[in-house]
Amino acid sequence: MRKPIIAGNWKMNKLAGDGARFLLNVREQLPEAEKVEAVVCAPYIHLPLLTEAARDFPVGIAAQNMHFEDSGAFTGEVSPEMLKDILVDYVVLGHSERREMFGETDESVNQKVKAAFNHEMTPIVCVGESLEQRENNETFTFVEKQVKAGLAGLTEEQAKQVVIAYEPIWAIGTGKTATSEEANDVCAHIRQVLKDTFSEDVSEAIRIQYGGSVKPANIDELLSQSDIDGALVGGASLEEDSFVKLVEAGA
Ligand code: G3P
Repeated sequence: MRKPIIAGNWKMNKLAGDGARFLLNVREQLPEAEKVEAVVCAPYIHLPLLTEAARDFPVGIAAQNMHFEDSGAFTGEVSPEMLKDILVDYVVLGHSERREMFGETDESVNQKVKAAFNHEMTPIVCVGESLEQRENNETFTFVEKQVKAGLAGLTEEQAKQVVIAYEPIWAIGTGKTATSEEANDVCAHIRQVLKDTFSEDVSEAIRIQYGGSVKPANIDELLSQSDIDGALVGGASLEEDSFVKLVEAGA
């Protein structure tokens, strides 16, 4: 049985004081960690206060990106070593917004996935097709390529720990959620790709989230699907009550 994982992706939102206040207000309302894994994915400026606020509470704190080198002439970047130093335990990699606007590629995602494991952080690897690719029936082949390239070179034990977030680009921030059948079909295909690429053990152990206009009103239907193990939520995770409801749905 895979433990559900519900992650809130704040994207580029919340001023410094609002971040820690959010976690202090929600952390005691969240269900027990044995039932569901709750993660907050925040901008870099929030991370030190969030990991401090989460120290005695079972809420995972994730960065939304990172570089793959530990130090050097990379102006503006943040290294895996810096994130681990402030006790960050997850990192979102390859989000479609970073692929689209900041030149992230399957190859750079793979370098960062390996760097995450080298620093004992759990990667949440985002994959997903564009509307044009879906309309051209290219979804399965495109997502398959992203999964294989993103996880290339991992051991089976590492692959089992990866969280994959299937986020159809056309559903992100649009209010248009994939139907639970559409989402599950792609997640099931991802699981088959993992079985073919690694092993049945890996395909059964790895958790696959759905992301793209998830809200408290539609999360139960999505989580009832056979191959959806959680959600990566943007807009609906920014409000405290909504985030608690989303995590409760996973319990
Ligand atoms: O990473 C999650 C995000 O891309 C989904 O955004 O606002 O459609 O839930 P949203």
